Amino acid sequence: MAVRILPTGDLAGPGKRLPASAHAAEQQTDLATAQRLAGFDGMVQNLLDTGYSVQTNALPPLLCRMLSDEIQERNPARFHKAGIGKNRKSKLNSRVRSDEISWIEGTSKSGAAWLAWAASLQMYLNEQLFLGLVSFESHFSRYRQGDFYRRHRDAFIGDNTRKLSIVIYLNKNWSPKDGGELVIYPKEAPSQEITIVPEFGTVVAFLSEDVAHEVLTTHCDRHSIAGWFRTNSTQAL
Ligand code: OGA
Ligand code: MN
Repeated sequence: MAVRILPTGDLAGPGKRLPASAHAAEQQTDLATAQRLAGFDGMVQNLLDTGYSVQTNALPPLLCRMLSDEIQERNPARFHKAGIGKNRKSKLNSRVRSDEISWIEGTSKSGAAWLAWAASLQMYLNEQLFLGLVSFESHFSRYRQGDFYRRHRDAFIGDNTRKLSIVIYLNKNWSPKDGGELVIYPKEAPSQEITIVPEFGTVVAFLSEDVAHEVLTTHCDRHSIAGWFRTNSTQAL
């Protein structure tokens, strides 16, 4: 049975006004922190139950808008065809994937805010799941009309330091005819694939070694960020 996850809620709508007083700002910060931790907690529970998690409207809307602006404004020369495999062994294989990527270094305001969000998630995952995550790497991905990424796993052969994959989507008003869904094959039930619409603010996380997944052919520009939390050791945890 295929499960289709559609976006819900309206967090992607217009931003709230800045609070009038410092007190209000403090309350808002507390609320934002509580919401963030609730999202992280939901993700942890899902990972424990199934090895993957899908949350719609989960990335803070302001951060999502900043990242969406950056991927559109970034100099095209900073994007290159993605390879498969690790570093120097990375090979271009256009039959496997055809997207273009640009690594996020945290030098821009939005990049720094994204890495701060990922660092707080990393800390939470370590506290809750004892994963021993020590680093995070991520890139923007741009899929043009006709692009795809065939079924794969994110951990490299001979190097299992990638423990948790995270993908976020930066596409407003994605419609079913646009294609480009992420399909994940849960480890315990690979025939029950989960189909995820790449809609603005959706956050997907899964165990990098366990969960095969693919990106279906997209029919219009599709923007996402893919990131990986890593351990130092290549030994099994
Ligand atoms: C990847 C990947 C999924 C997506 O970059 O490894 O699987 O939906 N991306 O962009
Ligand atoms: Mn992947």
